[in-house]
Amino acid sequence: MKIAKKDWFFIILIVAVLGIFFAISGEVTTKKVPNDEQHKRFYAMVAAGGLDGMKEADKHCPECHNETGGIPFPSKHPLKPKDGPMSCHLCHKYQATK
Ligand code: HEC
Ligand code: HEC
Repeated sequence: MKIAKKDWFFIILIVAVLGIFFAISGEVTTKKVPNDEQHKRFYAMVAAGGLDGMKEADKHCPECHNETGGIPFPSKHPLKPKDGPMSCHLCHKYQATK
């Protein structure tokens, strides 16, 4: 069968759609917020306030995670507190708690 020009258009469209599916279905590999002594108060905020709790918790992350004496971010970290308000929870998910 000879593939006509308009068929190529559809083939490329399908490949692109599959590509997008593949790109967004990848498993989340960014480290989760540890559920330990340092972070348990944030788990409590999330348990109490859901998404609002997460947003509230984000304001406190730079108390420890900062570039000036705190726990530094990896050098290739996508953004730093000095870049403005940060939504840590968008990338660093909370672990499922029982
Ligand atoms: C009281 C200080 C403190 C605060 C506040 C804090 N952290 Fe941490 N965080 C730490 C310390 C210490 C470590 C390294 C040891 C550990 O895993 O607890 C750490 C490690 C991490 C890690 C890396 C975990 C890993 O697997 O390597 C992530 C992600 C993280 N914190 C996210 C957050 C987020 C998001 C917030 C705000 C909701 C936050 N932290 C607030 C002290 C803090
Ligand atoms: C746009 C996504 C994004 C946002 C927003 C973000 N991070 Fe990250 N963070 C990453 C990625 C990607 C890494 C690389 C290591 C990984 O896979 O966890 C990382 C690494 C870290 C690490 C080191 C983990 C380790 O031990 O290797 C810490 C701590 C951390 N982030 C804390 C935070 C805190 C606190 C905030 C909010 C102030 C924040 N991040 C916001 C994407 C993000």
